[in-house]
Amino acid sequence: MRTRPIVAIDGPAGAGKSTVARRLADALGFVLVDTGAMYRAVALAASRASIDWKDGKALAEMARGLVSRSALTFERDAELGVRVKLAGEDISEAIRTPDMAQGASTVSTHGEVRAELLELQRMAGRDGGVVLEGRDIGTVVFPDAEVKFFLTASPECRAKRRHAELVAKGTSASFEDTLADVKRRDAQDENRAVAPLRRADGAILVDSTALSFEETVAHMLADVKRAALR
Ligand code: DC
Repeated sequence: MRTRPIVAIDGPAGAGKSTVARRLADALGFVLVDTGAMYRAVALAASRASIDWKDGKALAEMARGLVSRSALTFERDAELGVRVKLAGEDISEAIRTPDMAQGASTVSTHGEVRAELLELQRMAGRDGGVVLEGRDIGTVVFPDAEVKFFLTASPECRAKRRHAELVAKGTSASFEDTLADVKRRDAQDENRAVAPLRRADGAILVDSTALSFEETVAHMLADVKRAALR
């Protein structure tokens, strides 16, 4: 029995899940679990080990090794939300590149890889008092989560936000390239055979296209409080 709820947030790339999840976790005093960072870390570790992102078997073997050695660790960080370490090395910045976003999307298509990370995600959330964000939290990882959200926005709106972030970081990507990346990732995440991105049964749909960040958070916080009081 969980005494505190699990809050599951799923949705497409660039919908603002990370920032919203972080703010909700802070406001509720909950642990934050960024499952996309796990897939990004696997993509980075694979490229360093010269393992092809398309080689599901080799990736799964590598991921199993990382999990069993507890080589992947996640620490709460006031500035970044979550600080990710691979065998003690801080890879928080290295996994936040367009290349690793695409790599994570590709490695996450393999059922064998997903199976290796599933236990890690369930362990992190099982006691409740946690906000998990990803693509399949409400559908696969915790279908019994007390509160489920599907956070989305139009592709143009998501690309605009993502492009602004890249520009702020000093990256010279064009808006058109960013929009094409967003659409490519949507197609890959929604059309894969295993755990495709979709709105879970009972998930509250939040379309943030016409909402400010503050409005989105306020709306979701009210939903969590309502659900937790039921
Ligand atoms: O949320 P993100 O951009 O960090 O996620 C990177 C990729 O990881 C995303 O394109 C799909 C994959 N992912 C997934 O398949 N399942 C999750 N629960 C989280 C992320």
